[in-house]
Amino acid sequence: MYKLLIRPLLFLFNPEKAHKIALGALRVARYIPGARFLIRLCCKKRSKSLERELFGIKFPNPVGISAGLDKNGEYYNDLASLGFGFIEIGSLTPLPQSGNPAPRLFRLPKDRALINRMGINNTGVKAALNHLKKDNPRIIVGANITKNTTTPNSEAYKDYVRCVSLLYDFVDFFVLNVSCPNVKDLQQLQVGDMLSQIIDAVLEVRRYSEDSRPILLKVSPDITREQIDEIIHLCLINGIDGIVATNTTHSRDGLKTPEKQVEACGEGGLSGAPLFEKSLEMVKYIHEKSNGLLPIIASGGIMSPQQAAAMLDAGASLVEVYTGFIYEGPRFAKRIIRYLKKKARQ
Ligand SMILES: Cc1cc2nc3c(=O)[nH]c(=O)nc-3n(C[C@H](O)[C@H](O)[C@H](O)COP(=O)(O)O)c2cc1C
Repeated sequence: MYKLLIRPLLFLFNPEKAHKIALGALRVARYIPGARFLIRLCCKKRSKSLERELFGIKFPNPVGISAGLDKNGEYYNDLASLGFGFIEIGSLTPLPQSGNPAPRLFRLPKDRALINRMGINNTGVKAALNHLKKDNPRIIVGANITKNTTTPNSEAYKDYVRCVSLLYDFVDFFVLNVSCPNVKDLQQLQVGDMLSQIIDAVLEVRRYSEDSRPILLKVSPDITREQIDEIIHLCLINGIDGIVATNTTHSRDGLKTPEKQVEACGEGGLSGAPLFEKSLEMVKYIHEKSNGLLPIIASGGIMSPQQAAAMLDAGASLVEVYTGFIYEGPRFAKRIIRYLKKKARQ
């Protein structure tokens, strides 16, 4: 039904509009008696055997939604009805920001991919906090946080501290996004003194808090081996709880979409099918290099249940989807869970 009817209809609209329509439809279900129950019946699959405990949190299943889909933390309970085990809201910044000018999101259907240069548009950490206070999450929520575009890198750590401090009692874990390719110079935060400064400052907030919230770092698939080695080392010595691997890529290698069409999209991060091998390789590398000591949430090009399983086999503890969800539809989590369950029985 999704691929035959709903997706072709949604794909008639520009991608950002389609995104709003789809989430708007989910929101409407809140107000129709029994609608959420029906959605859960259709899309949710419980599985005791897939429950897992990580960072002291009990995840009902290992399949989550990546950052960027629920940027402002408005739809986490609607998306929970679709059977996901957790969600990353954001990226959130201390102050609201409008992101890059539109058009800034493009589909490459031949490659089952997206290109985006959204530029971290979001309504700010305080608006998300208000939603979290009003609508108690029925799903494990991670807050993906970053700095405002106007904040210089030398001051970036203050933005991360502000987001962590405000959200600390209202989310289950944090992801420090230092790898968005669509904000000028943000990826420079991935290495060196600036990353240490951010990690130290955020861990300081945790040190003085009653509960210990897990803090993870999200990395780009485009960094060099030396850079990832440095990141792994920093995470291990500082007590960062895990890595989200990976964000979108700058690369346009191996695309089936005609070059002219790709060029017309302009700059931005590529996600979806073409990213899978790169992200898988990164997951394997981090797992091996850290001797399995750094839990990994795999993100990047998971477009099928088999690919989700491959990420888990490569050492990931959890997986996340975004582009796969757009192309595969609302029952994608259920299909992955069903497959993982079957695989575990074999
Ligand atoms: C439209 C769009 C917006 C995104 N926004 C964010 C974001 O705000 N913060 C972030 O860390 N990642 C963001 N991402 C990256 C995703 O979280 C994910 O890491 C990436 O798309 C790779 O996974 P996928 O191939 O399953 O989409 C975004 C991706 C897309 C397609």
